[in-house]
Formats: sequence, structure tokens, C-alpha cells
Amino acid sequence: MSDPSRREFLQTATALGLGATLARDLSGQQPATQGPALFAAPPMERVRIGFVGVGGQGSVHVENFLKIEGVEIRAICDIVEWKVARAQDAVVAADQPKPVGYARGPRDFERMCAEQELDLVFTATPWEWHVPVMLAAMQHGKHAATEVPAAMTVDDCWQLVETAEKLKRHCVMMENCCYDRREMLALHLVRLGMLGELLHAECGYLHDLRATKFAKEGEGLWRRAWSQQADGNLYPTHGLGPIAQCMDINRGNRFDFLVSMSSNHGGLEQYAAEHFAEPDPRRRERFKLGDVNITLIRTLKGQTIYLSHNTNNPRPYSRLNLLQGTKGIIQGWPDRIHLEGRSPDHAWEPLTQYYDEFEHPLWKSARVQRATAGHGGMDFLEDWRLIRCLRAGLPTDQTVYDAAAWSAIVELTMRSVASRGRSQDVPDFTRGKWQTTPPLGIVDGES
Ligand SMILES: NC(=O)c1ccc[n+]([C@@H]2O[C@H](COP(=O)([O-])OP(=O)(O)OC[C@H]3O[C@@H](n4cnc5c(N)ncnc54)[C@H](O)[C@@H]3O)[C@@H](O)[C@H]2O)c1
Repeated sequence: MSDPSRREFLQTATALGLGATLARDLSGQQPATQGPALFAAPPMERVRIGFVGVGGQGSVHVENFLKIEGVEIRAICDIVEWKVARAQDAVVAADQPKPVGYARGPRDFERMCAEQELDLVFTATPWEWHVPVMLAAMQHGKHAATEVPAAMTVDDCWQLVETAEKLKRHCVMMENCCYDRREMLALHLVRLGMLGELLHAECGYLHDLRATKFAKEGEGLWRRAWSQQADGNLYPTHGLGPIAQCMDINRGNRFDFLVSMSSNHGGLEQYAAEHFAEPDPRRRERFKLGDVNITLIRTLKGQTIYLSHNTNNPRPYSRLNLLQGTKGIIQGWPDRIHLEGRSPDHAWEPLTQYYDEFEHPLWKSARVQRATAGHGGMDFLEDWRLIRCLRAGLPTDQTVYDAAAWSAIVELTMRSVASRGRSQDVPDFTRGKWQTTPPLGIVDGES
């Protein structure tokens, strides 16, 4: 197998602290990459994928995978027939064989998983379908990948962990924001020690989704219903994932407990009143989700994380993405940094020169710089890394334990909100293995 390269094996192994063991194994066939809370499947020459859910985000992934060497899209499943046909056409237009279509209702992914020889099932369905699809995939011997959040309840998080462990399958949540350029720069600076010891982070998902939630297509068909049923942080992982990687969550550290509170709500009600005329039933819908949800998480190593969620009010987009260490601070929206001894006293600097000097190697990859589909390239990068890891027989960058710990925040915030902010312990999904799992390394994107 010419791709992926031995060089990347070695860099990843070094980053994982497995240098000596893995370097020996490079002479053999199969890398011994099983760290304490890291799973690696045997390397595979090609990755045969079945897609479930090819709406907005699923279509972005299909387009990405059509550009990635070693991928075959073998099957497409959606409850909407024309969406299946659209994805099939995209595959054929890329000069690849037409994938088999599945459109016989909301559980047709089970038939796909049973019938098709696939290495990976990738789901970009509404939140409530992620867990059923991934469980079906793993039970039929496939690896599973999902859009975010992986699960909406703590029980479902445990189910994913237990199934992946028992069946020895990858179960990956595709948190694309971990691959955005500034988040990766921040991870690189943390690893280089330039922020000092990390003390605190601020992150969130602050995105005016009112029009999207009320649309009569796409996410409007399912996302608004969650705002009617639940009060907490429904979408924690875009903000929290990159911070968790910097703070070595599940890899030497873990979330300890959280407290959460929600504000009143009114954004969706007001939007409906102003945008829809009688007798539109959307005017009479009732909502439960507080417009602003704020959560404080404390890690076992004593760091604090402020995590926020607001998808209901007019405001520009932000994930905050602030990291405070003993030597400085980096922050997004707007992007800026202050490092003691390097920046002018008490003043922010732009990130431009830091990108010149400290760009994460994955963002230097020519492939990624060419890729524009999907949130400016980060979606391509996450898809490319997933395939890279599967083909190389490496642990994926995000593990099933990350999927569980980052997604469990959904239910834990709901519980805290419902109990006047009472603190909620975050389960240790690794069952102690976080203590011996090395931090995520800085990997190379070339070769
Ligand atoms: N990472 C990101 O930046 C990002 C961006 C957008 C959406 N998302 C996530 O992607 C997922 C999908 O969101 P979207 O915006 O693409 O929504 P969407 O509504 O456009 O797409 C969902 C698709 O799933 C299909 N579907 C619904 N139930 C199904 C079932 N049981 N079996 C098969 N197909 C089914 C729908 O017909 C639709 O085509 C969500 O989890 C969302 O949170 C992530």
C-alpha cells in the first residue's frame, strides 16, 4: 500500500507517545496502535462507504469523499427518493459506479447495513437517528461515523461506547470545527507550550438559526421540534470539541462536572409572529428551549470552561473559541492573540503572523488549501483525516469516548437546567483509561 505513508505513521506514533513500540512495528504488517483508550482497526486499502441522510450536510460529505483517494461510495440511503437519486448522480458524475439506493422509509438503513459489503456507514441524519444508524452499522460489522452531536442522551452515549468496545468497531463523531484553521492553530500553540498551562476556555454555538428552524425544508423539518421539547444546550460539540482536544479530555484529563442555566425564550415566538400570517400554524407553536443557555464545566485538572448556546436570536455567528493560559490568551470572533513576552503589553495582536510561523501542518496541506467545499475546508479536512486513519490502521483523531463525553453535555445541561442549576457529574466513558491515554498529537497533512 503506497498511501498512507510510513512518515505519517511515525509522526502520529511519536505524538501518541508510542514511538518505540510503533517504530518497531513499522517493519511489520500491522501497527500496534492500541493505546489505552484508543482503538485502531487493521489498515484497509479502500474504504467502501454507505451514506445515510444526504440532505444539506450529507451532500457536502458525499462531494468531499468523491475527491478523496481510496474511497468508494457504494450505497445511499435517505427517506426522500429524489435526494437518493441526486447523490447517486453526483457519484456517477465523478466517474464512479452508481451506488445502490435505499429509500423505503426511516429504517431502510437497516436493510442497507444488512445487504451491503461496506467498511463504513456515515450518517448525516437528524439528531434522533444518529444512534440507531450507528448501532445498526456496528452490529452489521461496519465502522460508523456520524454528524454532530453523536447522541442526545447519556444512555445513548453509553450504548455507543459499549457497542464499539464489544464489536471492536470505530464509532466516530465528525466534529468538523476541530479542523478549522484557527482551532488547529490554537491546538498547535498549546502543544508548543506557548499559552503556558491552560486554565480556562470559553466556547459555544451562537448562530441565528431562526430562518433555518422555520423553513419548510431541510433542518426546518426536524430541528425546530427539539426547541419545543427540550431546554439545555442542544448543540455543544462545535464549541466544546476543539477546547476538549486542547485540554486533553479523555487523554490525561476529563470533564468532572457542570452547572447549566437557561434564559427565558422569546426569539422563535417573536420570529413566527412577525414572519407568518394567520392561519399559519407556526404562529401557535410553543417552545421550551431557553434562547440563551450557559454552562460552566470544570475539568478534573481544575480548568474551567464557559459553554454557551443560542440559535434563537439576532446576532452574528460565533463559537468564541477562547483559551486562557498562564502565558497568554487566544480568541476567535474576532481572531486575536496576546502572548506575554511576544505581544505588546496589554494589547491584542492579529493572528496573521502566527499563521505564518505556527500554522498547523494539516492546514499547510495543498489538498486542503485547494478544498473549499464545506465550511471553508474544515469539512474536507475532517473527511480526509478519517479516511487517512482508516486506510493506515490508525486510531481516529476523535474516539468514541470523545463522541460520548462531548455529546453527553446535551442531557446533562437539560438535567441541570431543570434542577435550578444543580451540578451534574460527567460520566467517565473511558472507565479510567483517560489516565493512560496520550494527548492528541500534531499530525502532518502532506505525503
Ligand atoms: N458539522 C456541521 O457543520 C453541520 C452542519 C449542518 C448540519 N450538521 C448536522 O448534520 C446532520 C444533518 O443536518 P442537515 O443540515 O444535513 O439536515 P437536512 O435535513 O438537510 O438533512 C437530513 C437528511 O436526512 C434524511 N433523513 C431523515 N431521517 C432519515 C432516516 N431515518 N433515514 C435516512 N435518511 C433520513 C432527510 O431526508 C434529509 O435528507 C445533523 O446532525 C446536523 O446537526 C452538521
